[in-house]
Amino acid sequence: MSMYSNYLKERTDKEVLETEQGFAVYSFTQDAVYIEDIFVDKDFRHSNVASDIADKISEIAKSKGFKKMLGSICPSTKNSTEGLKVLLAYGFKLDSSTNNFILFAKDLE
Ligand SMILES: CC(C)(COP(=O)(O)OP(=O)(O)OC[C@H]1O[C@@H](n2cnc3c(N)ncnc32)[C@H](O)[C@@H]1OP(=O)(O)O)[C@@H](O)C(=O)NCCC(=O)NCCS
Repeated sequence: MSMYSNYLKERTDKEVLETEQGFAVYSFTQDAVYIEDIFVDKDFRHSNVASDIADKISEIAKSKGFKKMLGSICPSTKNSTEGLKVLLAYGFKLDSSTNNFILFAKDLE
């Protein structure tokens, strides 16, 4: 567990799922689990590491009774178009948008 992860857990309601290859920061809204950030080490990309991490979070959320997952893109961030492709590949659908923030949703099966 990294020090930043410990910091987030102590100071916020965010949860962190870390593996040797990557991590995700997520939180729970009233009716959904929201994956706020996801990162995979460059050496391990395109091997479904991100999908596997999202699947694990999905299982945790389902065990708590949640039926929806949220993800988001800030178009102005670096490589946001690549992030968009990853969200779409994972099955997220457009939900809504505000200025420089696009929200995506996916039903948890
Ligand atoms: C985005 C990120 C987490 C993806 O991690 P990953 O482990 O490589 O993703 P996966 O292997 O699970 O990808 C699943 C699918 O998403 C799509 N995908 C992944 N990276 C992609 C890219 N750079 N361009 C286009 N499609 C991509 C592909 O369809 C991929 O399946 P495939 O590799 O079998 O074709 C990783 O590239 C990363 O850490 N990027 C920097 C941080 C970042 O941008 N995070 C926010 C994303 S919303």
